[in-house]
Amino acid sequence: MERPVRVAVMGLGQRGLQHLKSLWRLREEGAVEIVGLADAFVENLAPEKIGKYVPGYSADGLVADAFVDTVIREAAPDALYVAIPPGVHAGEVVAAARAGVHLMVEKPMSLYLDEAASMARAIDDSDVVATVGFQQRYSPRNEAVRDFLADRRVVLVNVVNNGALENHSTKHTPTDRLDGPKNRVWTASMDWSGASVVEAGIHQVDLMRYWCGDIAWVEATYMHRDASDIEDGGDNPYAYRVAYGFESGAIGSLIMSRLRRSYYNDGYQGITWTHGQVKFEGHDAVAYHYDGPYPPEQRPSAEELRHVLPTAQGEDPTTALARAFVGAVAARSEDGLRSTFSGSMNSLAAVLGANISDRLGGERVSLADLPTAARYAEFRRRPGPAAA
Ligand SMILES: NC(=O)c1ccc[n+]([C@@H]2O[C@H](COP(=O)([O-])OP(=O)(O)OC[C@H]3O[C@@H](n4cnc5c(N)ncnc54)[C@H](O)[C@@H]3O)[C@@H](O)[C@H]2O)c1
Repeated sequence: MERPVRVAVMGLGQRGLQHLKSLWRLREEGAVEIVGLADAFVENLAPEKIGKYVPGYSADGLVADAFVDTVIREAAPDALYVAIPPGVHAGEVVAAARAGVHLMVEKPMSLYLDEAASMARAIDDSDVVATVGFQQRYSPRNEAVRDFLADRRVVLVNVVNNGALENHSTKHTPTDRLDGPKNRVWTASMDWSGASVVEAGIHQVDLMRYWCGDIAWVEATYMHRDASDIEDGGDNPYAYRVAYGFESGAIGSLIMSRLRRSYYNDGYQGITWTHGQVKFEGHDAVAYHYDGPYPPEQRPSAEELRHVLPTAQGEDPTTALARAFVGAVAARSEDGLRSTFSGSMNSLAAVLGANISDRLGGERVSLADLPTAARYAEFRRRPGPAAA
């Protein structure tokens, strides 16, 4: 494609505005033309508001509308970014794919596996380029870990993520007008976010896959929030313990907590291969292993074991993702993408599967069975009115 890629964005909230900021940079480089914006809540399309988040923004010449189908019809984008809350999809991704529009869909692509599978099918059938907002795969540090582990056999990956339930950036969906949380912090609500493992943990799970390959099974137990501790619809569990089995045979765990009134965060990511460990220390990814003559005459010192992984400088991951996606659209090829839509389905299944395992008393859920087994059918579909 010789001309700039024509891009539209649906959902101009926290994440859509971050994407627009990155796309605006690519527009200044001549790689992108922003042709349309869609948001069901038109106050979020006001140029004065968007300009506060996107330096240099101007609405001149672009179609801005409450309905994405109007934007697709009138602005004829090559590609659409979709950044709306994951529970409110209403067929927009499927319709865009069928119209031949390439797609960048935010994680989690849906709270319902059947709905995400129908998106994946439409994308596949229409042969459009599609990616998911797993920008952490474009972080040079995470890439360094992946390169380092490429010819090593991972046996264990552990992630701990402790956070505050109130932690959030400004959210823009008026959930207070939609029977949702009055304070608009929809990420704390089970109905809106699908639980913290789905909303936030999916990034950690996707990185585990970036380093260790696809996940085969999940077992999970959550500590649910006391009814007396629910405020503003913030009913996500206190704590999550999720065990994963990888197709390679490696095992993993994701431990998360989301406390109210603690205002405290910390975390740990560690990957163990057959002869050493990688962990993160400040900005560095560090491998601990012994590579001298074996057996050593004396126990190696800590300094001898510590190897900081060489990490390239890179631009911010959201812009790097935009660059890869726009390049993929221009080339009509997914080769440069680190997370295709179809390739991301395993990350989604791994977190929705954790919810199902918890609901079923911690049973092991095979991700190969999850998309089709009758036992999981009620958990896969969007809840609706019971059939008459
Ligand atoms: N990749 C990341 O690091 C990252 C970070 C934050 C959010 N996200 C994801 O991005 C998505 C959006 O989250 P957010 O934080 O931007 O939320 P948000 O509430 O701040 O913004 C959502 C936007 O979508 C609009 N919207 C809501 N319902 C709509 C509908 N039915 N049709 C059209 N527009 C609608 C809202 O008006 C709002 O402008 C979520 O899936 C979230 O998980 C990803």
